[in-house]
Amino acid sequence: MRLKIVAGNWKMNMLKEGGENLASEIVKLVSEHKLDNSIKLILSPPAIHLANLSSILDGQTQVSLAAQNVHQELKGAFTGEISASILASFGLEYVIIGHSERRQYFSESDQLLAQKVKAALEQNLQVIFCCGEGLEVRQAGNHLAYVSKQLTNGLFDLPKESFEKITIAYEPIWAIGTGETASPEQAQEMHAHLRKHIAAKYGNDIAENTSILYGGSCKPSNAKELFACADVDGGLIGGASLKAKDFIAIAQSF
Ligand code: PGA
Repeated sequence: MRLKIVAGNWKMNMLKEGGENLASEIVKLVSEHKLDNSIKLILSPPAIHLANLSSILDGQTQVSLAAQNVHQELKGAFTGEISASILASFGLEYVIIGHSERRQYFSESDQLLAQKVKAALEQNLQVIFCCGEGLEVRQAGNHLAYVSKQLTNGLFDLPKESFEKITIAYEPIWAIGTGETASPEQAQEMHAHLRKHIAAKYGNDIAENTSILYGGSCKPSNAKELFACADVDGGLIGGASLKAKDFIAIAQSF
């Protein structure tokens, strides 16, 4: 059985106190609402919050932390960067790699992302690997081929046993922060396609156990219909993850 995951990508939001309050409120709501054990919540704050939030989440088994990025080298003279070994030494479990904002604003190529994935896995971090097409690609009808190529280039050099540590997040760029969401049919079509693509490379067992999340203007009002799709295993949530009640409402949408 694959894990259901709702991950909150805080991006570059939340000052110190706001981040602490948000994490504390989420912890409180999780215990009040008794979320099903099969659901995992992940918070991905700006990196400087991670150590602090890990004390707030101490003792929580259902809520984990993810970094939003990682450097491809394990140490060295890379001012401003954070390595997978540093993240692991702070007890971090997850890292998001390949978000479209990293690809677009920081020119992260498929090759670079493949290196980052390897570095993260070597340090035993779990990877949430993002993929997704822009509007022009979708309008041209090339979205399925485009996104499966992102997976091939970023992940398919990995040995089979490493793939167990991969979660996929499909985030169509035209739906991120725009208020426009992929329809359940569009999400299901892509997720089923990606699962087939993984099965062709790594076999049915791995594909069936890989969680594939949807991201892009996912909110309490549309999460239910998206999560009802057979191949949608949860969401990577941006804007709506900054409000504890909305985030928990999304987690209750399975
Ligand atoms: P959004 O962002 O939910 O604000 O559209 C999703 C993401 O970029 O991960």
